[in-house]
Amino acid sequence: MRTEHARPIRLSDYRPPDWLVDTVDLDIALHPTRTRVRSRLRLRPNPQAAGPAAVVLDGDDITPLSVRIDGVPMADSAYLATPDGLTIPQPPAGPFVLEIETEIDPSANTKLMGLYRSSGNYCTQCEAEGFRRITFFPDRPDVMAVYTTRIEADRDEAPVLLGNGNLIEQGDVPGTTRHFAVWHDPFPKPCYLFALVGGRLGARTATFTTMSGRTVALGVYVESGKEERAGYALEALERSMRWDEQAFGREYDLDVFNIVAVADFNMGAMENKGLNIFNDKYILASPETATDADYAHIEAVIAHEYFHNWTGNRITCRDWFQLCLKEGLTVFRDQEFSSDMRSRPVKRIADVRVLRGHQFVEDAGPLAHPVRPDTYREINNFYTATVYEKGAEVVRMLETLLGRERFRAGMDLYFTRHDGRAATVEEFVACFAEAAGTDLSQFMLWYAQAGTPELAVTRRDDAQAGTLSLEIAQVLPPTPGQPSKLPMVIPLALGLVGPDGDDLPIRRAGHGPVERGVLVLTRAAETFVLEGVPAGTVPSLNRGFSAPVKINADLTSDDLRFLAAHDSDPFNRWQAVQTLASELLIENVAVIRAGGAVRHDGGFVHALAAVLADERLAPAYVAQVLSIPSEGDIARDIGRDVDPEAIYLARQALRRALGNDLAPTLRILYERLRQDGPYSPDAASAGRRALRNVCLDLLAAPGHPAAIALAAAQYSEADNMTDRMAALATLALHDTPEREAALADFFERFRADPLVIDKWFALQAMIPDPGTLDRVRGLAAHPAFSLANPNRVRALIGSFAQANHTQFNRADGEGYRLVVDTVLALDGVNPQVAARLATAFRSWRALEPTRRAAARAGLERLAGTASLSRDVADIVERSLG
Ligand code: PHE
Ligand code: ZN
Repeated sequence: MRTEHARPIRLSDYRPPDWLVDTVDLDIALHPTRTRVRSRLRLRPNPQAAGPAAVVLDGDDITPLSVRIDGVPMADSAYLATPDGLTIPQPPAGPFVLEIETEIDPSANTKLMGLYRSSGNYCTQCEAEGFRRITFFPDRPDVMAVYTTRIEADRDEAPVLLGNGNLIEQGDVPGTTRHFAVWHDPFPKPCYLFALVGGRLGARTATFTTMSGRTVALGVYVESGKEERAGYALEALERSMRWDEQAFGREYDLDVFNIVAVADFNMGAMENKGLNIFNDKYILASPETATDADYAHIEAVIAHEYFHNWTGNRITCRDWFQLCLKEGLTVFRDQEFSSDMRSRPVKRIADVRVLRGHQFVEDAGPLAHPVRPDTYREINNFYTATVYEKGAEVVRMLETLLGRERFRAGMDLYFTRHDGRAATVEEFVACFAEAAGTDLSQFMLWYAQAGTPELAVTRRDDAQAGTLSLEIAQVLPPTPGQPSKLPMVIPLALGLVGPDGDDLPIRRAGHGPVERGVLVLTRAAETFVLEGVPAGTVPSLNRGFSAPVKINADLTSDDLRFLAAHDSDPFNRWQAVQTLASELLIENVAVIRAGGAVRHDGGFVHALAAVLADERLAPAYVAQVLSIPSEGDIARDIGRDVDPEAIYLARQALRRALGNDLAPTLRILYERLRQDGPYSPDAASAGRRALRNVCLDLLAAPGHPAAIALAAAQYSEADNMTDRMAALATLALHDTPEREAALADFFERFRADPLVIDKWFALQAMIPDPGTLDRVRGLAAHPAFSLANPNRVRALIGSFAQANHTQFNRADGEGYRLVVDTVLALDGVNPQVAARLATAFRSWRALEPTRRAAARAGLERLAGTASLSRDVADIVERSLG
């Protein structure tokens, strides 16, 4: 299939580097097509390496113009330049200085890795392996060096020049139109954290006083003219810095912290030391252009990247297999931050929705891999939900198992012991084992074994003895390369909801009280006998989603309705409603496939009505309860022989039933939650809007003209993007003239605003109508569409492939064809984004036979294409494997 077949890289092959780099001096003269890069490396043999060795530097798409050792030019024959690097077979025996000059073309860089241009500005992206596209270097995270960077550019073209660390010098280049800036970063770092920016940028600035009283200059840089929209990001940064001091005792370390927003970016954002670079969708916000969800994402991503300064930068990863060491831990930290800034239960529910929607799906298919993979062919393909989201769950389980205090002691030990180093997952876990004085060897399986554990819980009541026995069996299904598994250690937070709805104390017969209410499972099957349990008690399992597992418990619908009404754990109260809905939906999917009539469940409607009527509950929480499982959730719960059309119909039937049966209540709530002041993105106001918009959507679900008119009115009257977008999304589900009118209006209103136009593309791609295929084809030919901009591709094609279950999975295979065509067209432009798009096929084996065959044919068409990138080839081969 491909010409070069990349060999897998294995964790077990890890060897320390032969050469270390103490300092890196870069001199980079920016030019749109001919940027000159001079690098000066102080190299020394690694005392931990085996012995004298060649110097092997990585390179990608670059050629050396000159190479010098200790100031002396090398003969061309003394080094070997290949497409993927530069080798010096016989270097000096001791430390020496290596100078290399290269020239690169940032304008031609469409992969957006290395140095590239976005809206005319210069920026870099080096994680994971982009630095080697700028200069030759041992591009591996365990080579940590102190960087000094001189950046030079035309003063007009790039009045702003930013680098890592602190600014130590700047000035004009005499007799030219050029100027320069010199940045010095005193903290040793791997090259993936290198960054520079040059361009015409405006900034919002502030100063931050750290816990020890140092002053830090903060700057959020955006395209000139958009400074107004950077204010929220700047405030979120200040909140993040304060929180990390208070929650983890972590203080910022440089005199400067800058953030730059760019329009063309492969991922969300990047934690380069002292100079974070962001996808502008996670910076720019105004009430007219950003939704409440956008604001929440901005706050979370700002925090995430800032928190990397300690978890990722000060302590980095020894090798890329350890990616979860920084990502899982930093996601855990940003989740905790958002929980403290907003509602903790609502944040937990939202995070678990994401985990199940992405990570559980990944774990159930051919792309499943352990939180710490042990082999890869393309590291870019491992920035996954498993590494990030499940990685965060694993850290959370450590906290649940050890308790807050011992967890914090483990974190403190980690920070002191490994500061300034490149660490491993073993070293991280060892800090907790040591701080808590406990054995965590079984816990390491969470990093090594892929797949989602499935728990079967059988309950036995003994009314006479007053006991409740829980028989719990755990199974971890096979995943690629892992046919059989060992039992995991699973912290299962438990509640016992007594007959009057109050929590009972949890005592194990013969063991006494259960510490913090957490049962710790360690074996394939075990029984917990709980005492002092009156008849009519209902167990509330896995409270707060204490472990990322699936639970199959023998709870009846009555039990679930009881929990939905009384569980003191808000997560499980929400979960009870979801489980009820899921059971009903799955039953109705089967009924629809058999040609029958769907069952209406008055009990379920009643349970929802009770939650709606409970005025003690926060609106944001009620909005989550009212949001029934998505089509993706239902498909995942069904798991095999999936028919997306039947799932859609079953879900629609339930939405219509809710809209009809609850109409009076929904209507009253809709009016009562009307905004009463100017827009504010705070969590409480956002929660009211969220609930109000769920009410609107359910009211409109049956398609009554009055409700459609209500949505159309909200669309035109809205003074903020949240309400306008929600109304438009509701209208989009109904094939009416109002829909097309609003879509046309939206484009005209926001045509100058790329981030808003992305919403316009995405929304249309998600319309669950057969006409959407042609609509998406048409939009792909729209003048505003471009394969060069990842946000645009994700908005149109990504949304279609990931969020439009019926139309991507059309029975005629045309949805697959459209996505395969796009992957192929994109692969030559930006392989990383193309590969991400190709993961839309990851659940193909779970489909019913007709669609399964069509999806496989799509993957095989990809596999049969010559000169596929390594990125796409890796995804396709594993998906078919
Ligand atoms: N490390 C980035 C993060 O914060 C993600 C990223 C990976 C960005 C690779 C760009 C390239 O999660
Ligand atoms: Zn990260």
